[in-house]
Amino acid sequence: MSEGGAGAIVTKSIGLEPRNGYVNPTVVQMSFGLVNAMGLPNPGMDEFVHEIRRAKTVLKVPLIVSVYGYSEDEYALLAKKGVEAGADAVELNVSCPHVKCTGSEIGQSPKLLAATVKKAKAAIDKPVIVKLSPNVTSIAALADVAARAGADALTAINTVKAMAINVEAGMPILSNGVGGLSGPAIKPIALRCVYDIFGQVEIPIIGCGGITNWRDAAEFLLAGASAVQIGTAVALKGPRVFSTITRGLSAYLRMKGYQSVSEIVGLSHRR
Ligand SMILES: Cc1cc2nc3c(=O)[nH]c(=O)nc-3n(C[C@H](O)[C@H](O)[C@H](O)COP(=O)(O)O)c2cc1C
Repeated sequence: MSEGGAGAIVTKSIGLEPRNGYVNPTVVQMSFGLVNAMGLPNPGMDEFVHEIRRAKTVLKVPLIVSVYGYSEDEYALLAKKGVEAGADAVELNVSCPHVKCTGSEIGQSPKLLAATVKKAKAAIDKPVIVKLSPNVTSIAALADVAARAGADALTAINTVKAMAINVEAGMPILSNGVGGLSGPAIKPIALRCVYDIFGQVEIPIIGCGGITNWRDAAEFLLAGASAVQIGTAVALKGPRVFSTITRGLSAYLRMKGYQSVSEIVGLSHRR
């Protein structure tokens, strides 16, 4: 990913214990994106710290370790272990839509969200990024809660709750039934979320959701994102998608007479 032009790497979300995730099918590919319910498969933090240490010996870009827990103490412990192993920042996954008692069940509750962010902040001296769920009435209100609790930055958004049904079998395709939609279909939703949050908080926003080309990335910057994350497009286009997007973005900035990305962050809000 780094050789493909990514400016930083975010890991898959890691918990305290190893998890197999759900049995297949866990991903449904559609023309407009993916519906997935992986079920947070991961080797557990005590095993993953070896990968963090190894990644840090080869990576020239920052490594952001994503974590999920079942309580604020677990999030804080995971953040601490990740940073001790070499993480440059930690992203709190308080927005996974398809695993019980973690993810969005924490991020949708202002009380639990604030407590989780505060504990994680107190546990580490590296930036704490909070990844928000779009499956809420007001993402801006929860962004405000996370910012007031001390978040250094916000990522918007995780996947949008969704499902697919096989009409021959007359059953949901995903073994979990319900999952999360990603890819081009959610770009307008993610963009609106970033736009709403920008007016609400002072901290940087990382835009995420359906970004596949430089135009998408430019839209997110104009909406208020200071950086963007790319997930599904890596599966669709391969890791070179990062340099294709940054080259396109550089050409756009040059053509418009801007010196830096920061000059267009939130520009669409001007009246
Ligand atoms: C197969 C798959 C696995 C994902 N796993 C995680 C995860 O472990 N933690 C997390 O915070 N988000 C996870 N996501 C969500 C993405 O990071 C991202 O927020 C979402 O897919 C929207 O961006 P995109 O359209 O660029 O993929 C996953 C998405 C997909 C498609």
